[in-house]
Amino acid sequence: MADTQQTLSNALVHRQDREHVFHSWSVQGALNPVVIKSGSGSRLWDYDGKEYLDFSSQLVNTNIGHQHPKVVAAIKAQADELTTIAPSTANHARNQAAERILGIAPQGFSKVFFTNAGADANENAIRMARLYTGRDKVLSSYRSYHGNTGAAIVATGDARRVPNEYARGHVHFFSPYLYRSEFWAADEAQECERALHHLRRVIESEGPQGIAAILLESVPGTAGIMVPPKGYMQGVRALCDEFGIIMIMDEVMSGFGRTGKWLALEHYEGVTPDLITFAKGVNSGYIPAGGVIISDKLNQYFDDKMFPGGLTYSGHPLAMASIVATIDAMREEGMVEHAAKIGAEVLGPGLRALAEKHAVIGEVRGLGVFWAVELVSNRDSREKLPVEAMNALKAGCMQRGLLPFIADNRLHVVPPCNVSAEEVAQALAIYDAVLAEVGAAYAK
Ligand SMILES: Cc1ncc(COP(=O)(O)O)c(C=O)c1O
Repeated sequence: MADTQQTLSNALVHRQDREHVFHSWSVQGALNPVVIKSGSGSRLWDYDGKEYLDFSSQLVNTNIGHQHPKVVAAIKAQADELTTIAPSTANHARNQAAERILGIAPQGFSKVFFTNAGADANENAIRMARLYTGRDKVLSSYRSYHGNTGAAIVATGDARRVPNEYARGHVHFFSPYLYRSEFWAADEAQECERALHHLRRVIESEGPQGIAAILLESVPGTAGIMVPPKGYMQGVRALCDEFGIIMIMDEVMSGFGRTGKWLALEHYEGVTPDLITFAKGVNSGYIPAGGVIISDKLNQYFDDKMFPGGLTYSGHPLAMASIVATIDAMREEGMVEHAAKIGAEVLGPGLRALAEKHAVIGEVRGLGVFWAVELVSNRDSREKLPVEAMNALKAGCMQRGLLPFIADNRLHVVPPCNVSAEEVAQALAIYDAVLAEVGAAYAK
């Protein structure tokens, strides 16, 4: 694999990948990965010069787009000074990263525990909640994704949990999703009231004195970008207070501008969790990083009690420098405000206009640069578009130069926070053409 830039081609990189690289979540023999050479902003290129608009933000993490020059420069500068240092040391880059993160957290949060990614952030938040309460059980939604390590994967509600159920004390409940309501609800208010009643009954039936935490995404992401109805998060907070349960909000996907706010929890007036987990957008994924933002209540507890957790790369200087530069660049360039505006004025209206035109669109929902387009073969029955149709949708987008994010029967429209109105218009035109083809072939 000692080939130089000149000799690299799509064919060579693809062949070497298939020979030597074992991929996530896949039947290895069925893989056909897209080859990517380089990127800038919302665009990527392969070795043959083909351009793609990245409307996936990879795994919904490149919130500032690809190769932001200020972040690349900060990583290089940190590499010149100190590339690695043990977590037990005091380090300026780490202090600054913690300070920047606390600067966007709600009042009452005073420390950050750094991890390598989102899953281990949730692992450690669960560990903190169990130690603080002396209780064992953790409640989370069936419609969630929290990561792929021991406890986090079992806290995950979707099907990836099933082959991994070896961690203890995890219980699931249904969170609100009006379009496919579990509660026969007719409107948002009913969905909210019934989902909260269901959660109360799960707590009572599981025994509140044994429940350490409720873990939930501020806006469930991979499970379908379902913004909770008004009052739901306030209701969950009230249940946590009533039963002495720690509320953990997972901001791994929804945080750092994705919903048009620094943290998605800002959409829920009066709701402050006890622990907040983050990763992805905190540094746009340029260097692996995540963590737990810890409220004063839990910090005080650990002031004189041992915290039995740690990671070799907790607070890694390259990751820390990239966090500082990312948050500074987002502030300087008004990216969070831009994400809110482009969502409200361009992306949301554009997707709703597509829904008027294409019967395969069952529902459009979202905020900022975080949208789901639910695709159905029949609008009345809400039958999901089959996997062949979703594969055709993906192929149609790729062929026209757009990298889509597809989950189950949904197209997730999740560009970087600094995507331009022109790029959104280009993407909408591609979706329009592809939906016309797929609709003609699969609508009933
Ligand atoms: C909400 C949420 N939590 C946790 C994770 C896990 O993060 P990571 O893959 O960085 O471990 C993800 C990943 O997609 C996520 O979306």
